[in-house]
Amino acid sequence: MKDITCIEDLRQLHKRRVPRAFFGYVDAGSYAEETLRANREDLQKIKLRQRILVDISKRDLGTTVLGETIKLPLILAPIGSGGMQYGDGEIHACRAAQAAGIPYTLSTMSICSIEDVAANVDKPFWFQLYVMKDRGFCKALIERAIAAKCSALVLTVDLQLLGQRHADIKNGLSVPPQLLKFNNIVDFITKPGWVAGILRGKSRTFGNIAGHLPHAQDLASISGWVASQFDTSLNWKDVEWIRSIWPGKLILKGIHDVEDAREAVKTGAHGMVVSNHGGRQLDGAPSSISVLPKIVDAIGTQTEVLFDGGIRSGQDVMRALARGAKSCMIGRSYIYGLGAGGEAGVAKAIDIIAQELSVTMGLCGINKISEIGPQVIAE
Ligand code: FNR
Repeated sequence: MKDITCIEDLRQLHKRRVPRAFFGYVDAGSYAEETLRANREDLQKIKLRQRILVDISKRDLGTTVLGETIKLPLILAPIGSGGMQYGDGEIHACRAAQAAGIPYTLSTMSICSIEDVAANVDKPFWFQLYVMKDRGFCKALIERAIAAKCSALVLTVDLQLLGQRHADIKNGLSVPPQLLKFNNIVDFITKPGWVAGILRGKSRTFGNIAGHLPHAQDLASISGWVASQFDTSLNWKDVEWIRSIWPGKLILKGIHDVEDAREAVKTGAHGMVVSNHGGRQLDGAPSSISVLPKIVDAIGTQTEVLFDGGIRSGQDVMRALARGAKSCMIGRSYIYGLGAGGEAGVAKAIDIIAQELSVTMGLCGINKISEIGPQVIAE
């Protein structure tokens, strides 16, 4: 890992080590990928203000998120099928996050189950919920998250149906991979490290779901069940229902509009993530960073505002914090690290962003996260 100096290096290594279908699953956005590109382009348009001769010898990246002390304003976002990028991927990612002193969010669509992750890490993690039509399954998942002592529930609200990713269709993506397809055989032969890791992993299917469907153990049935479970009728009343079952901190993920943000505040949720699902849902939506300040202005400090979408560096974290986010979630940035080298790769991704943020703060004359505001942006 010593020649790896930036997230793009991890992305290139991930691309070399992981089969095409799984790299494509991570890298792609929906449809023409306009929103995916806008997330990056609009962040890069924000220019930072260079300041000099300020004593920057005591820089500190520490902050809090929903009352929890964290070592830097970063959270690992929920990512489906992490265990297909690297064997036991979710456990590796969670361990790296905990060693770095930041939260990890386990996806409903993880490969390792909630219980597997809880048994293999030291501290509580966050759990992300997709509300499925089978409300009994959702209730059981929440109860499992409570039993595993998860410290926050991240309710994803921007996936009542799935935006199409062309790459996944063209690559015939499936979990587990279709080993007998000719293209895949060629691909897998050239990725022996990945194959060995996946074979060693505890699970090769959706770990949180497999146990719920004793009558449907074959993977085609599980995938079919998941596809039939996205709930287009989901609405604000369901958030009330979730609140009545989940006693802890609740974060709504996928808020992208001022009116929705105001509604989200009314639910009493403790936090919200301004997000367009990393450009994987509504293509043609504006970038996440462009809607962030409007949402922050509209809701003030009533609910903690987190941000994701396009963060690939510490400079990007600085930009999002300057626009009003309290902390940032990262998705692809750490998954590239996971595919590139498991726990060490995720640790590398976090460290790269932390070092970049530290230097960026210094060069902007900032010592503390709480000092970052609109004044660091060059007009
Ligand atoms: C995601 N995202 C996501 N979100 C969620 O709530 N549950 C999930 O299971 C997933 N799965 C998932 C898989 C992959 C491969 C990606 C890239 C993204 C969205 C994710 O949590 C986050 O919102 C975005 O990744 C943020 O954008 P960046 O950081 O990837 O640009």
